[in-house]
Parts: sequence; C-alpha cells; structure tokens
Amino acid sequence: MSQALDEVKIGGLGASRQRVEDARFIRGRGNYVDDIVLPGMLHMEILRSPLAHARIKSIDTSKAWAIPGVRLVLTGEMAAQRNLAWMPTLSYDTQAVLATDKVRFQGQEVACVVADDPYIARDGVEAIVVEYEPLPPIVNPVQALAPDAPLIRDDKEGQTDNVCYRWEVGDAEATERAFAEADVVSKLKLHYPRSHPSPIECCGSVADYNSATGKLTVYMTTQAPHIIRAAVALVAELPEHMIRIISPDIGGGFGNKVPVYPGYVCSILCSILTGRPVKWIEDKTGNLVSTGFGRDMYLTGEMALRADGKILAVRFHADTDQGAFFSDAQPSKFKVGLLHSAFACYDVPHGHITAQGTYTNKAPGGVAYRCSFRVTEAMFFQERMVQAAADDLGMDQAEFRRINLREDDSFPARTPFGFLVDSGQYAKCLQMGLDAIGYEDFKREQAEARKRGRYLGIGISTMTEPLGAGNSREYDILGIKMFDSAELRVHPTGKAILRTGAKTQGQGHETTWAQIVSHELGIPADDIVVEEGDTDHAPFGMGTYASRSTPVAGAAVSMVSRKIRAKARKLAAHLLEVSEEDVEWELGRFYVRGAQSRGVTIQECAMAAYTNMPDGMEPGLENNAYYDPPNLTWPFACYIATVEIDPETGVWDVLRLVAVDDCGVRINPMVVEGQITGGLTEAYAMSNMQFQTYDAEGNIVGGNYMDYLLPTAWETPGFELHEVVTPCPHHPIGAKGVGECAAVGGPAAFVNAVMNAIGHTGVRNIDMPLLPDRVWDAIRTGKDIS
Ligand code: CDP
Repeated sequence: MSQALDEVKIGGLGASRQRVEDARFIRGRGNYVDDIVLPGMLHMEILRSPLAHARIKSIDTSKAWAIPGVRLVLTGEMAAQRNLAWMPTLSYDTQAVLATDKVRFQGQEVACVVADDPYIARDGVEAIVVEYEPLPPIVNPVQALAPDAPLIRDDKEGQTDNVCYRWEVGDAEATERAFAEADVVSKLKLHYPRSHPSPIECCGSVADYNSATGKLTVYMTTQAPHIIRAAVALVAELPEHMIRIISPDIGGGFGNKVPVYPGYVCSILCSILTGRPVKWIEDKTGNLVSTGFGRDMYLTGEMALRADGKILAVRFHADTDQGAFFSDAQPSKFKVGLLHSAFACYDVPHGHITAQGTYTNKAPGGVAYRCSFRVTEAMFFQERMVQAAADDLGMDQAEFRRINLREDDSFPARTPFGFLVDSGQYAKCLQMGLDAIGYEDFKREQAEARKRGRYLGIGISTMTEPLGAGNSREYDILGIKMFDSAELRVHPTGKAILRTGAKTQGQGHETTWAQIVSHELGIPADDIVVEEGDTDHAPFGMGTYASRSTPVAGAAVSMVSRKIRAKARKLAAHLLEVSEEDVEWELGRFYVRGAQSRGVTIQECAMAAYTNMPDGMEPGLENNAYYDPPNLTWPFACYIATVEIDPETGVWDVLRLVAVDDCGVRINPMVVEGQITGGLTEAYAMSNMQFQTYDAEGNIVGGNYMDYLLPTAWETPGFELHEVVTPCPHHPIGAKGVGECAAVGGPAAFVNAVMNAIGHTGVRNIDMPLLPDRVWDAIRTGKDIS
C-alpha cells in the first residue's frame, strides 16, 4: 500500500502555504540595505540638478569641504580623473555618473558629499554652489524631432539628432496587401503616459572597499546581483572574484532596480577614495525624479478587417520618450523587447510595427515596469485597438474576440512577429470571465440605465504575455546568455538549503521554491531554507524581472531536485539491497518494486549519503542545475471590468472586476492570487490616477507622493479571481510566469469599460489616466482627450 506523503500537507505544489518571509517582515526584522551598519561607515548624499537642460559653468565645493564632518566632496571632474564620469548602460549607450559638461534632466546627479552622518552630508550638498547656463528643454518626442531642436546628447560623437534608436518588425509588404483587401480599416492613436514603479523601498547601497584585501563588497538594492558584479568588473576594471554583491531584503523592485544608477557607482568610488564603507540611501523624491520610469510611449496604428469580423492585419508605430540617457536594457535588441508580442493571442496573419526612440530632457529609463520590456504598452494598444475595431464594425466586443482568438488546437502557433505561442485555452478563459460577470445581463442593464441617464460600461482585456527570458540562443544581457540556476544541498538529517540565481523582491521565492523541492523530493517545505542575492554564495544567475523566475529559476529548482533524487535512488538501492532498476519512487520515499512496504525515506537516503554510501560513490547529497528554457512561457488572462460614470463630474467607479488567469500549474495558489491582486491594483492606478508629467521647462510634476498618486486600500476596488490551468508543455512542472500579467493586461479592461460607457458620444479615446476632468470634458465635447 502506498505510503506516499500528502503533498499539500507537506507544503508541496498546490499548497497555499503561508509566506515564510513575512514572519520577519511583519515583525520589523527584515534586513534591508538601510539596516546594514558597518564599522567606520560614512554616509553619502547626492546634489541633483534643479534644471532640465543647462550647461555647467562652474562648481564651487569649498564651502562644503569646510563643514566639520564632511570627508569627501566628489564632482564629475574628480570622477573623470578615474574614468568614471560616464558609464555604459545596458542599452550600449552612455550615462553621466556625475555631470561634467551639461545637465540633461531635472534631478540629474551633479556632485555628492560623504560625511560622518547623513545630515552633515545633506548640509554639504546644500553648500555646493553650481553656476548653470540654461538651455532650451525638450520634453516630448515631437519637440525632440523638430528640425531646429537643440542636440541633447552632444557628448556622443557622430550624434546629429535626438533619435536614440529606430526599429521595425514584421512584413510591411504583406501587411500593405492585406490592408488593400480590407472591408474596414480601424484606426487608433493613444499615449501610454510615463509612470513610475515607485517601490516602497527606494534605491541604496553600502559599498565597502577593503584596500588590504582588495575586495569590494556592495550591499545594494538590485534585482540582478550577478549582472551587477559582471558590470562592475567590466566598468571599474576590478577582478570579478574580488567583487561581492549582496542584495539583501528588497522592498519591491518592479523593474526599477534593474538598471545601474549613478548613486551605486558613486558610493563605490567614494569607498575606494575614503577607504571606508559608504552608505547611500535614496529619498522618495530622488527615486521618483531620477530612476527608471516606465512607459511614456505614443502609439498610432490601424487594423485591417473583414466585414465578418476577421482581423486581416495590423500595423502601428510607436514613439518612445527615453529621457536623457538610454539607460535600461536595450528593447530594440531584445527579441521580446519592444512591441513584438502584440496580438500574439489573436490569429492575425500579417503585421508590421515600427518604433523610434528619442532623447528628451527627462529622467532616463523606459524600464520594464512590472512587465517584459515594453509588453505593457503593446498589450494596452492591442486591447484598445481590438475594442475600437469591434465598435467600428458594430460588433459585440466579446464576439469579436471569440472570432479572432487562437483556438485550442492551433498550438504551437507562430505570430506574425516571430514568436511561437505554445499553449492556452483562450475561449474557455473568455467564457469563464463572461459568465462570471454576467455579460448579457449587464448589457441589458446598461441599455436600461442609459434610458435613465446613467452611464454604465463594460470593458474586456484578453492577452497572452511572453514570460521567462530567455533561451540562450536568442537572449543575452551584455553578451551573457540568459538562463538560470539553482543549487541544492541536502544535509545529513534531510533538511536542505536551496540557492538560486534569481532575487526575490517580495514575490515570495523563499516560500514557493521550497514547495518545488517538496514536490520533487517529498522533503517538507518547512525543512528547506531558500537563499538568494549573495554573489559569493548563490550560483550565477540573471536575476528577477519580467516574471522570469518561475519559468527559468523555478525550472532549475525542479531540475536540481531531480538530480538529487537520482543520486538518492542509488543510495536507496544500496540501503534496500536491491538493484537500482527495482527501486520505485513515491513522494518522500523509495520502495522495492512489488514490495511497497519495504522502503526508505528521502531523509534516510540523505543520512546514508554522509554515513553509509556504497563503495565508489562520492559522499554528500548536493548538486546544481543551470536551466536554459527551450521557449518562453505563455500565460493568458481575461480581465473584465464594469464601471459607472457620473456624467456631471466625470468620476467613474468600478462596479466589478473579474479576472481569469491561466498561468499553468500554480505552485502556491495564495501567492499567485496575491500577485494578481497587486497587478490589478497597479493597473487600476494607471488607468485612474497615476502619471508623471513635466511642464514646458522640464520641471517634473509627480516628483512626490502628493502629486504622484499610489492607490490605497480605500480607493482600490475588490477583484474577483478565477483560474484556468493549461500546463506549460516545456516547463518541468508545467508552470508559467504570472507576476505581471494583471499589471500588463489590466489597464485596458478599465479604460475599455469607461470608453464603452460613453461610446454613444462618439469619443474614441481618452488618454490615461482617466481623471474625472478628462472624462467630463470628453462627455461634454464629444472629442478625444489626449
Ligand atoms: O519573476 P517573478 O518572481 O517576479 O515572477 P513569477 O515567476 O511570475 O513568480 C511570482 C511568484 O508567484 C513566485 O513566488 C512564484 O513562485 C509564484 N508562482 C506560482 O506560485 N505559480 C505559478 N504558476 C507562477 C508563479
């Protein structure tokens, strides 16, 4: 009779196990960068530019040096003497560490002061006198591309305009032919506004250069410690084995903590120059005004349609506002980077996309804010375009999707932009969403309400998102191939420690990775400790962003566990005195085929690995795995929102939001629901209240939390979550990524619902956020609002 363990009871796959990391977070016992205190540690503060575009005429640091307790005042000129005034970016661009010639955005780093405490350092910053000669600022792509526009990047040899990249994908000619045959061509123009990941914890570092050993240790808020180690080795020309990057607890990343920021570099340089550890902790405004923003993309496009609703082709163009430096990973050089994944869930035969990036006098970035590069903008455009097309055809928006979504038996399917989408049950997800929201009933209610002057609306967003970069053939960062890793050590008593190359920032890896080991080995999840983020200890990995952890590092966890199980099987055969072929596995134990009661537990095998191994076997029960995924994973989601608008004020309330997510096999259903809830909250914020903008002088509006709004529990609506499970065909446990789906697909559901509510006015688009005055203006004027 089977003696297999109950998987859910031991915290394996499918268990809604409580998050183990929360025990320290909710007790204030986390270990964030600002908690690190080293003997002799100094503190660094940054002087930022008040102007968006100006030539630096002089910098006088004498008053700062004279303040007691100030140990170092670092300027761009001093950094230049060490060849560190500029640094390369992940996009093969350059970025000023400290400005030497010009400032190119408000908030740019100009100098920094190191002192005995942060308050003295702040006094030092205020004592620095900088003389600027203002230059005309550029705050959007139209200004950047004007023929007489001032050149922002005059530091770059051969740069004659403000364009930082041009890109295209798809087949322009085939697309043109399809448009020529179309019965209807639907058009749409919109702006996805600049937003900011705004993690609760801002960026920071503690750099500790030991001149006696030559070892540099940096505690920092990075989502990708090994990439940082490689980058520091290459930029600072330090030997890689003498660099240790430790990413301790991180209070949210959302893509904001992928780039290398000047503050990190300055703290390292200051530690080298002072011979003491140097801590830099960014404040909220510093984070909002200078670190990687998201979005800021202008999209114009059209869809070719047959009268019966079939999509024949799509084409669109994007102008991206990259800010002063092209600082995030290069979207145009990355297969999943720009807008390539648009329309992947629909059977669209032809497509062509072009994009152009411009430099402006705004903070650099364009980071993948809770998404894979620019997939959020791609999906938003896709779902807004789909609704516009259905409206133009006079067709129901759900029916239009039904006609065009890929069918279950069409996988694997190639998209017009080169992806292989491998699995899904799109029609089932859509139908589940429609049933849950009561689609037909709502439409009847909407029509009745309209007669009484009430504006009700319903919006749908369906999408698949490629998650899990990458495979090493097609994806790299700085030339380093994309894969991920896990190392598992099972101790003699059967307890274990797992380390991976990913880096959790609140997603719960400490909880869920242990569940994968439990699933594979039957070791209770509580007996497994998970560690990430220390380059001296963790195996080399590419970090956590773009929901890649489960598809790649999570797969590596499975694979390393299987290697351990393979060795444990040999140990079991030895203990049971049978040949390996006669040994069977059930969760937590091996037994003799045909004699199920004769068995040994995984813990007994672990003990034997150190005390009683067969002749010729290496002792120990440890291994590692490097996982190179064959494809991305393709989760699917259907989000449906209903809203009511007050036509007198333009205020809109969410009545209901139904979410159906298919992320394959769920490791921890509770954690998945947490990810979806968080994503939908961000989606709601983006559609309703959140954006960063700049005035004509390049002054940022939204550099503090009075102007840049984060949703609280008070205004966030409740969400109703449902699931469909289509296992990923190539992932060892059938899981797909999920962390960002709702943030990517959610905004269009809210916006489509509002547009549906005012469809009778003839308005085709209101740019996000749909602030009440914008909605009210649209209703009043019947015109689009941008
Ligand atoms: O890369 P990141 O961790 O941000 O995203 P993810 O791979 O989508 O995982 C987010 C969290 O959800 C992790 O704790 C995963 O283990 C968990 N998850 C899950 O339990 N089941 C899935 N199918 C996907 C993710």
